[in-house]
Amino acid sequence: MKPAPDTCAGGFAHELQRALAERPHVISPKWFYDAEGSRLFDTICELPEYYPTRTETALLARHAPEMAEAIGPDAELVEFGAGSLQKVRLLLPALRQPAGFLPVDISADHLQHSAAALRASQPGLSVTPVGGDFTTELQLPPARGRRVGFFPGSSIGNFEPDHARALLARWATWLDGGLLIGVDLVKDPAVLHAAYNDRRGVTAAFNRHLLARANTELGADFALDDWAHCAFYQPALQRVEMHLVALRDQVVQLCGQRFALEEGESLHTENSCKYTVAGFQRLARAAGWRPEAVWLDARRWFAVHWLVPAPPDVSG
Ligand code: AVJ
Repeated sequence: MKPAPDTCAGGFAHELQRALAERPHVISPKWFYDAEGSRLFDTICELPEYYPTRTETALLARHAPEMAEAIGPDAELVEFGAGSLQKVRLLLPALRQPAGFLPVDISADHLQHSAAALRASQPGLSVTPVGGDFTTELQLPPARGRRVGFFPGSSIGNFEPDHARALLARWATWLDGGLLIGVDLVKDPAVLHAAYNDRRGVTAAFNRHLLARANTELGADFALDDWAHCAFYQPALQRVEMHLVALRDQVVQLCGQRFALEEGESLHTENSCKYTVAGFQRLARAAGWRPEAVWLDARRWFAVHWLVPAPPDVSG
């Protein structure tokens, strides 16, 4: 067996080992997003079947003035899971005297590049990229204005409702100015199915990239052809699940440990929870926010919610 690389001490190795040891095998989708995974995700966003990016982008382009009006002047904008910074470019020019922009992303290299490009196109704006995981304690520099969160893309859907509520509740303590958040809506399951099973197989490659990353970064020996991409909508849970399904019995070695996997076993790599408008507003209220506005496209496929911190509800 090869000697274990340094990365075997890191979070990805640790979580993947845990996921392979436990049953069912479940791992956080955050591990998709190294530089190559972020690039694959950007490609997904351009697929004809993947409607969320296009739909939300159109909402931002169309309603940026109203969103900026809700946000108000002198706000410091914090974007969680900022990625390529394409969407915030639609919002920033509409904001009145923004006090600064803090994009946060787990893929620090990808973020540095996007931040440099943004600085070049918005010379007056102070851009402070923060490399880090927004699901854990994050060290943000001291606020320079009312702090407003921006969380587009329906990334909140990656968290099961209880966890999403906890995350929104934590942010209510960080963001005194409000939260602008994009949420994918429940819809015809056929539309959802197509969005996560594109014809070009980019979503399948994105899913398998988790294993490819384990091979290059952790010295694992996953045979990518032995794993099938499987994505399906579960109406009772209002979510799309993504799995990698083992096509044969195999033994995988990872950082000096061996894991036996049987044909038909799955590694659950992602949940993408969908909401109704009312369902998401209920979740937001339970997390200490007051829904103040919502923008929808004509097909009602995607929602952008504006939430403000609510005083604690003591009515029970
Ligand atoms: C970035 C979490 C919003 O759930 O639609 C796209 C990720 N996974 N295709 C989503 C994703 C498969 C995406 N989010």
